[in-house]
Amino acid sequence: MTDLKGQCAIVTGGTKGIGHSIAEALLAEGARVAICGRSAATLSDAIRSLGTRGRIVGRPCDVGQWEQVKEFFSFVDQEFGDVDILVNNAGIGHFGAVDELAPELWREVIDTNLSGPFYCSKLAAARMKRRGGGFILNIGSLAGKYPFATGAAYNASKFGLAGFTEAMMLDLRHSNIRVSTIMPGSVQTGFRSEIEGAEWKLDPAAIASTAIHLFKTPGRNLASRIEMRPSRPRRK
Ligand SMILES: NC(=O)c1ccc[n+]([C@@H]2O[C@H](COP(=O)([O-])OP(=O)(O)OC[C@H]3O[C@@H](n4cnc5c(N)ncnc54)[C@H](OP(=O)(O)O)[C@@H]3O)[C@@H](O)[C@H]2O)c1
Repeated sequence: MTDLKGQCAIVTGGTKGIGHSIAEALLAEGARVAICGRSAATLSDAIRSLGTRGRIVGRPCDVGQWEQVKEFFSFVDQEFGDVDILVNNAGIGHFGAVDELAPELWREVIDTNLSGPFYCSKLAAARMKRRGGGFILNIGSLAGKYPFATGAAYNASKFGLAGFTEAMMLDLRHSNIRVSTIMPGSVQTGFRSEIEGAEWKLDPAAIASTAIHLFKTPGRNLASRIEMRPSRPRRK
């Protein structure tokens, strides 16, 4: 198994939810971790709490903004000098029927969930090629496979991410850069907490342990797409 000790990992949206769990799990493996989120206050809280587990740095960055992403990667270059692992996790949802959905909300979802992973992967892949390899993990969603009413923007972003991920996997695999996606169903985080109940949802720690398993799998093997779902979802 690949040893993650000392490896440098970037986790976008590592301040809360799934990203926070992945950052925590990477620190437990001895990796150095850089996280970002839009809120400076939430970022400081996350760095303070995760800082007891290992070497973690962070900087506010909106992944949907190319200039901010470039600044974030320059910051990570200065802090760590390397990128071995990128986790494109940052994501948002705005939900509503097409005729009611404001164009700015559509754009925010596409910018964050689809353009963000492109911007980050573009910069990470260039660094990984120079280093001789790496791992890019995209946190997709079962909403990237199953459309639902009011999901037009979110479905479009996650269907797009699924296609983007597989094309990028084909682009990068001969450069020793593995690309994979985990597509979860409902996860117990602050995301869509208006959906009733919590105990039936996936545990973010389970997404994190699957991510760690992917990173540690010996380099000649690649699970390129993993679907995860609650084993006993609420009955509709
Ligand atoms: N929870 C679910 O049921 C579920 C299911 C399937 C897939 N997913 C996917 O899993 C990922 C994480 O979701 P989650 O449930 O952990 O959500 P969450 O608890 O709301 O956390 C989202 C994280 O992303 C950050 N973020 C949001 N927009 C950002 C932006 N433009 N730039 C940088 N950071 C940004 C947030 O920080 P700030 O708010 O400070 O920016 C936060 O750290 C998303 O891609 C989501 O689509 C979630």
